[in-house]
Amino acid sequence: MPGRLQNKVALVTGAGSGIGLESSVLFAGEGANVVLVDVNLEGAQNGAKIIVERFPNVKAIATRADVSKEADVKAAVDLAVKEFGRLDVMFNNAGIMHPEDDNALNTEERIWDLTMQINLKGVWWGCKYAILAMRQNPTDERKGLHTGGSIINTASFVALVGAATPQLAYTASKGGVLAMTRELAMVHAREGIRINSLCPGPLKTPLLMDFLNTEEKRQRRLVHLPMGRFGEAVELAKAALFLASDDSSYVTGADFAVDGGLSKAYVTPIGEPALAPPPSLI
Ligand SMILES: NC(=O)c1ccc[n+]([C@@H]2O[C@H](COP(=O)([O-])OP(=O)(O)OC[C@H]3O[C@@H](n4cnc5c(N)ncnc54)[C@H](O)[C@@H]3O)[C@@H](O)[C@H]2O)c1
Repeated sequence: MPGRLQNKVALVTGAGSGIGLESSVLFAGEGANVVLVDVNLEGAQNGAKIIVERFPNVKAIATRADVSKEADVKAAVDLAVKEFGRLDVMFNNAGIMHPEDDNALNTEERIWDLTMQINLKGVWWGCKYAILAMRQNPTDERKGLHTGGSIINTASFVALVGAATPQLAYTASKGGVLAMTRELAMVHAREGIRINSLCPGPLKTPLLMDFLNTEEKRQRRLVHLPMGRFGEAVELAKAALFLASDDSSYVTGADFAVDGGLSKAYVTPIGEPALAPPPSLI
């Protein structure tokens, strides 16, 4: 059976770790050639190595880019088009959660600016160059390839619900991602370009676990999670695959929450989760 991204080309930012790494491997397993982009080149190269070893039918390239720099993002998109002839999927996933990000009184301007540059401006650059490339995608009916493409922007559940454990710059940046994605989805809806936000709940990735470094901090969150556990990066990768593929052909402008029910919760159940999460692909 052909994979769900057979013959397609995907670019993933933040591909060196967490959601981006799991997604890169999953996309490759579904037949995509993948460009793995990260400011941490070693992480991206590790992902490309896993793909090449595991899936000889596809290609993977790792490249260093800082998504807050327009020239870096343009170069990464240009590389995808030069090497593979097109860009079908752009996963703008790189993001930071700064340890000094706090409330309105304590957050320093430099933390605000840095967070906005990476989490929000970085997504803008990714959308800009993906749109330009996707407009040029040749159609090849036999291979299931068409003009346009799918852009997925990683936001967060904190853009949907408030938290009394503030990370003001982070939350504001992710709210910006939701609003920008919605607007771009409307602008480009008749060009075959779909643009959606992925809103992960709290995950067991280094990004969050480094931040929640005590049992007390973890418990403060777990009580609000209906399923009684944090999410796994692979669970976000599976949702990203749906948004990336033509299976989601009528989905655009969505705030696609993959949060274990967190953003719909009032009172959560008691007890242990009945099911274990799926295993990582790494
Ligand atoms: N982990 C969570 O609980 C959680 C929850 C909601 C949303 N998110 C979002 O999911 C996305 C992925 O996070 P993750 O949990 O996989 O984190 P992660 O830290 O495991 O991975 C993030 C990757 O982004 C890269 N990166 C950071 N700044 C960059 C830059 N300027 N340019 C290019 N690459 C850069 C890092 O090197 C890293 O490899 C982020 O946007 C994050 O805000 C995460």
